[in-house]
Amino acid sequence: MSSENTVVLHKGLDNVYVAESSICYIDGENSKLFYRGYSVEDLAQRSTFEEVAFLLIYGWLPKREEFEGFVRTLRESYTPPQEVLAWLKTLPSQAHPMDVLRTAISMLSLYDRQGVDGGLEANRLRGLRVIGVTPTIIASFARIRRGVNPVEPKMDLPIASNFLYMLRGTEPDAFDASVMDKAMILHAEHEMNASTFSCIVTASTLSDMYSAITAGVATLKGPLHGGANEAALKYIQSVGSPEKAAEAVDRTLAAKQRIMGFGHRVYKNYDPRYMILKPLAKQLGERKGTLNLYLTAEAVERAAVERLSQHKLFPNVDFYSGLVFNALGIETDLFTPVFAMSRNAGWVAHVLEYLADNRLVRPKAYYTGKLNSPYVEMDRRGDKVEG
Ligand code: SDX
Repeated sequence: MSSENTVVLHKGLDNVYVAESSICYIDGENSKLFYRGYSVEDLAQRSTFEEVAFLLIYGWLPKREEFEGFVRTLRESYTPPQEVLAWLKTLPSQAHPMDVLRTAISMLSLYDRQGVDGGLEANRLRGLRVIGVTPTIIASFARIRRGVNPVEPKMDLPIASNFLYMLRGTEPDAFDASVMDKAMILHAEHEMNASTFSCIVTASTLSDMYSAITAGVATLKGPLHGGANEAALKYIQSVGSPEKAAEAVDRTLAAKQRIMGFGHRVYKNYDPRYMILKPLAKQLGERKGTLNLYLTAEAVERAAVERLSQHKLFPNVDFYSGLVFNALGIETDLFTPVFAMSRNAGWVAHVLEYLADNRLVRPKAYYTGKLNSPYVEMDRRGDKVEG
């Protein structure tokens, strides 16, 4: 705590607590991650994305009838407003899917018949609607830009399977469906990360759930955050083979560039999500004939750990998630939208939790500029432009 005349600047809000929360706990030193007290290992092994979304939003594991009602609400939202689908068909094919998603989520508010006002229950319902419809928006644009018609969601499929079905046109086999569901669980929530904080800031002004999630998508896009999965896969592909990994990593670090998918503000050890995704990436590589890409990734990881672990830089969720998504037939520029369609659950949970005990987010900036500068009419300002 600073005394009256000393200023403590927290650039990037490192280690600054902005709220109390019971949604997620990260033990960054010991590679532990808990959603509402349940380990992410248990949830990835035994739960489903829909059940985890319920757990994050409501705070407890649902009884069967609660779960069935929740799933019904999600599935009623699988189909976007026709106006949004029609709009998707007007877009340039080179539009980045995260820009498309950010705009589409914002558009949803225009077609919400209940409007965007209302209390906690109205906001919760809107949040569930976004969780239900986001996969369809992403898959629909992915097909439209390829010149093929979108595939309508199947009302009897869970979100993870439905996404792969709508993307590929055929239902996934049990293994692919299970891996997709686990990947969505692992991306669903992560305490007060940058995109979640963006949602909170927006919600704290009593704006609406669509605006908050639009802010989350806009923030997640950045390569320092959710955009790292796309960058990590491109990097691994550029290395080409395991034999070239060490030389490539040395070249990258010598150029003062970053190994994408490595390092974390909170984890100063291995990311527990990486530990679950890595074996899944290997199994998929064996099943899909892309094992060389996996072995190259493993070699890059080994070389990077050798060079970076002394600085407490280890692989994070984004290092192998791209290989998993790639093996599931998801195009590279859809990786971050897939991250977003999973993180919708965490964003909705944090917005609702914060609104229940709201306080407008309004930090300060430490002023280092001039004061009381004399105003000079434009024609008398001389050559030097005041900086
Ligand atoms: C996610 O917050 C969350 O929880 C996010 C997330 C979630 O689920 O929501 O976990 C998802 O965003 C994971 C992170 C994905 N991003 C990347 O993989 C991009 C590459 N990683 C970095 O840019 C970096 O590690 C961050 C952004 C993730 C964290 O950076 P910090 O805490 O701000 O640390 P920093 O940038 O101050 O780096 C400290 C030092 C620097 O060296 P110096 O300038 O002091 O000499 O470590 C170096 C950095 O150059 N460094 C790296 C590095 N990451 C940091 N050097 C090489 N490769 C890297 N990846």
